[in-house]
Amino acid sequence: MKIAVIGSMNMDMLVHADRIPRKGETIKGSTIEYQPGGKGANQAVAMARLGAETVMFGCVGDDAAGSGLIDSLAGAGVDTGSIRIIKGVPTGQAVITVGESDNTIVIIAGANDAVDIEYIEANKERILAADIIVLQNEIPQETVEHTIRLGSRHGKIIVWNPAPARGLKEELIDLITYITPNEHEVRVIWGAEADDLQKLLKKYAGKLIVTQGEKGVVMYHREKGLLTVPAMEVRVRDTTGAGDTLNGAFCAGLTEHMDEEEALRFANAAAGLSVQKCGAQAGMPKRGEVEALQNYRSSER
Ligand code: RIB
Repeated sequence: MKIAVIGSMNMDMLVHADRIPRKGETIKGSTIEYQPGGKGANQAVAMARLGAETVMFGCVGDDAAGSGLIDSLAGAGVDTGSIRIIKGVPTGQAVITVGESDNTIVIIAGANDAVDIEYIEANKERILAADIIVLQNEIPQETVEHTIRLGSRHGKIIVWNPAPARGLKEELIDLITYITPNEHEVRVIWGAEADDLQKLLKKYAGKLIVTQGEKGVVMYHREKGLLTVPAMEVRVRDTTGAGDTLNGAFCAGLTEHMDEEEALRFANAAAGLSVQKCGAQAGMPKRGEVEALQNYRSSER
């Protein structure tokens, strides 16, 4: 099975400090690093590192950041042949403050805004050659909506990671196979309905998967009922890209026909490894590392 990721590519500026500053506050940081990122590209890298056949669809500017991002994707084994390079537009960027094992992120869309319906139509055949279509929210909303409709008409598995949080019409939610928000995103999208998470998970049984950081991942499995997959207990250095690793690994699991629970356990182990290193893509594990961690943890039980 093949995966098409339609999403963002950003050059991340990671600023490390003892903690994240409060509103109006100036604090002293320790280091600044530039690393490849963007939720779309991160998820594609996570999938390819784990052995999934992955094609990236998105746009970068004709600058050094853009070529660096393409190199990083290609180095991980992602097919970058459909990425469009836009003249005179900067590549997407993200400013990430990392402190106390957590982060805040501000993104500047740049070329990610050029991932429009015309681009999707121009790449339609290649997108539809995939079995799984993966989307996030760092490209224009109308592109996300158009691609969901397109994929659904052709019977594709559609995975939507609604990050950053942005709602979607119910008729489109119906067309999606899996929705993977974190706790914050679930609240922004479903408002008061998210107060009773179990009820919401049951309403979207087999579809809604909520990531809860160190508490793990929850979903209402169609046959097994409420399912909680606990997070791995690890020493956290940087959570940037942990959600992307989880999404990517979950999709990689689907390509191998893992059942949802098995794919989530595999994804949780991958995310557990990613948070032990700094940067989004830099920390993403290879298949052997995930399997070794899973075997080690099961031998401990
Ligand atoms: O999920 C982490 C990613 O969010 C970063 O790589 C940054 O680019 C933003 O898109």
